[in-house]
Amino acid sequence: MKNKITIVGAGNVGASAAQLIAQKGLGDVVLVDITDGVPQGKALDMAEACPVWGSSSAVTGTNGYSETADSDLVIVTAGLPRKPGMSRDDLLQANAKIVGSVAMEIRRTSPEAVVIVVSNPMDVMAQLTWQKTGFPADRVIGMGGILDSARFRSFVAIELGVSVRDVYALVMGGHGDSMVPLPRYTTVSGIPITELLPEERVDVLIDRTRAGGAEIVGLLKTGSAYYAPAAAAVQMAEAILLDEKRVLPCSALLEGHYGVEGVYSGVPLKLGASGVEGILKLALSEDELQAFKASADTVRSSVEALL
Ligand code: NAI
Ligand code: 2OP
Repeated sequence: MKNKITIVGAGNVGASAAQLIAQKGLGDVVLVDITDGVPQGKALDMAEACPVWGSSSAVTGTNGYSETADSDLVIVTAGLPRKPGMSRDDLLQANAKIVGSVAMEIRRTSPEAVVIVVSNPMDVMAQLTWQKTGFPADRVIGMGGILDSARFRSFVAIELGVSVRDVYALVMGGHGDSMVPLPRYTTVSGIPITELLPEERVDVLIDRTRAGGAEIVGLLKTGSAYYAPAAAAVQMAEAILLDEKRVLPCSALLEGHYGVEGVYSGVPLKLGASGVEGILKLALSEDELQAFKASADTVRSSVEALL
């Protein structure tokens, strides 16, 4: 039987993710949005592209949830995006209302689904989704680390004039200004970038990575990034739907991992059919560990601000 994937929010990230999923033929896609006509129109457009893509995916759009029933995977992109001058945390209260109501619908209509949360501030929205759905934490995962690591990979590749395919990067912590890029674990074909670049250049690339989302917002002016975010969410979707056991940096509930208890934050984890199938333990230096804990604390403060 084909997989059924619901994407909530048919805006820039949601529609781009739907397109990638349909192009890859990962399953049938249901696009949900509150705006009348938009999910239906975008879905019909994609359905009409499927013959050209050679894809057997069915793509449909709706303003309700009955069509989404018993989805295997739900990707939550509903909410407001950033505008210039806004931090991800400025979206907290507005998006908590939206994501909270979406989570209750997922709980009602797709009780066995794995959920990928994209809406910002993402780690807080992932935690809220976990709380509102009542799902086991391994079935609610946030997307941020793959995007932040991809940005770091791109900047390293540009700096060194090498293919991005040979650059691996790791960014842990929350998907926000306190994220923790780890140059020791960022390599070009296995060689740490700390051996290839002077410290001050590494610092410049780290700063650009931290500000990567804001750099795009500043250029677009009317919204935030969506090609790379959609690609990152679909990489997670593929790992889950194909039970790939990929090891990717994603946001998960930490229960004592890295000294953090009861809060979502970005860590390298194994993704397979049941969602999070294990959190990997890295040897962090004392400075890295402190930065990671500080980042998790900012997520915790936002979660508490919602109570
Ligand atoms: P967008 O504005 O293009 O799309 C958002 C869509 O959500 C709109 O179509 C809107 O009508 C819909 N929506 C609002 N309330 C809804 C509800 N209750 N039910 C269903 N749909 C609803 O925004 P974009 O660019 O797609 O971004 C979506 C979210 O993802 C934002 O919060 C953004 O900050 C976040 N984001 C997170 C990233 C990450 O790395 N975690 C990366 C990029 C974006
Ligand atoms: C980004 O990093 C806005 O979170 C979004 O592009």
